[in-house]
Amino acid sequence: MKKVLFVASEAVPFVKTGGLADVVGSLPKCFPKEYFDVRVMIPKYSSIKEEYKKQMRYTNHFYMDLNWRQQYVGVFEMEYEGITFYFIDNEEHFTGAQPYMGMPGDLEKFAFFSKAALSVLPTIDFRPDIIHCHDWQTGLIPVYLKERFQDSEFYRGIKTIMTIHNLKFQGVWDVKTIKNITGLPDYFFTPDKLEFKKDASYLKGGLVYADAITTVSKTYAEEIKMPFYGEGLDGLMRARAGSLRGIVNGIDYDEYNPETDQNLEKTYSARNFRKEKVKNKTALQKELGLEVNPKAMMIGLVSRLTDQKGLDLVAYMMDEMCQDNIQLVVLGTGEAQYENMFRHFAWKYGNKVSANIYYSEPMSHKIYASADAFLMPSLFEPCGLSQLMSLRYGTIPIVRETGGLKDTVEPYNEYEGTGTGFSFKNYNAHEMLGTIRYAERIYYDKKREWNKIIDRGMAQDFSWFSSAHQYQDLYDWLA
Ligand code: ADP
Ligand code: GLC
Repeated sequence: MKKVLFVASEAVPFVKTGGLADVVGSLPKCFPKEYFDVRVMIPKYSSIKEEYKKQMRYTNHFYMDLNWRQQYVGVFEMEYEGITFYFIDNEEHFTGAQPYMGMPGDLEKFAFFSKAALSVLPTIDFRPDIIHCHDWQTGLIPVYLKERFQDSEFYRGIKTIMTIHNLKFQGVWDVKTIKNITGLPDYFFTPDKLEFKKDASYLKGGLVYADAITTVSKTYAEEIKMPFYGEGLDGLMRARAGSLRGIVNGIDYDEYNPETDQNLEKTYSARNFRKEKVKNKTALQKELGLEVNPKAMMIGLVSRLTDQKGLDLVAYMMDEMCQDNIQLVVLGTGEAQYENMFRHFAWKYGNKVSANIYYSEPMSHKIYASADAFLMPSLFEPCGLSQLMSLRYGTIPIVRETGGLKDTVEPYNEYEGTGTGFSFKNYNAHEMLGTIRYAERIYYDKKREWNKIIDRGMAQDFSWFSSAHQYQDLYDWLA
């Protein structure tokens, strides 16, 4: 039996700000229980819902040093859908409405979390063969393991994997502060280790010291070896190319299932979407105060509102798009400039544009089910889950060909009758608009073709099945 511990800053259903939480919460369920014991460790944030907190059992506590500070570490655990979750408790670090509060506070929080994740292992009766770390918040785990823990018998031989969900966020700050927070000696602060353009980077530490590196699509694994996507680490990615694999994400097919989804006005399937899916659209039009018209093409956008997602292209083209016979339904939070931009256009084109500037799991499901097309013109996209959710709900993705979007959406080819979505290559607002207008033409003038694109999209399998196998191969190869 191979033992694997996922360590991450978020996991559904406890805490989620983006796709990382979906992956960490859903992938562990997909390994065969006879061969793999996969458990998950996250912080015990005060913002976790009371209904879950009530189910957590206190395991133990102790004090741990973080450089010159002694800090309380509590451990709670609970089983959820067959998976054991551990929660690291420390009220000073993990209070607040959001899991992330910004720098530099988050640096100390996640240095604490990373060191605590290693420190608690002898106390929880679970010695993992592999620690599977996710993103910069856990980048110090391979570093601390190397620096001190490996000297003791218990830790010797534990292997680490670093999965990159987003190379843009690295946990970078000045060397002096990071030395003071982490207590790591000078030895680690050289350009071949944590040092990054005169500062220090947690993620870089993880990428240098992990036994294997993965990222969440094949194309992104290639892209990050180049300067444009490499975020200053392309050299390191090239140097470690032999240890780097791209494994595309899946989604939870039980959670995202148009046949059973409780959030929908009307459930539907690949067999009856032609008749039933539209009932969700008209219900949502009514709910959001848009013109109620089953024929109007509805474009959905559910996203963190950040530069990564290509929203400057959307901003640039909003007026033009709104001249067309379309409706745009947005759900998202993030940078004020984008929140306000969508609010502005919802005010300007009231019966066509709906700006929902908040976070809501049920509303996201309604949009995936109701919209005809889903817009995701990302500047970069390590994998992207929203387009997979759209495909699952028979909503045709319109994407830019980057990262996981390129790997999961096959462009429509009207001559061959193939493809599951629409895509464009260059990061260019006119190319995006041209592609949206092409989709509009197919939707309005060739509805049978449109529906066949949906047929092909809904027939795709983006459950975790095949990707979980690729992780199993990696675990078997490592330990
Ligand atoms: P990223 O992780 O970069 O944000 P992904 O496409 O991988 O992008 O995952 C985004 C996840 O977050 C999806 O599950 C999406 O439905 C969800 N999401 C994003 N914004 C919101 C929101 N405002 N309300 C509900 N869900 C959201
Ligand atoms: C990141 C990426 C997104 C990916 C998600 C889960 O947030 O931005 O593309 O799908 O992680 O891996």
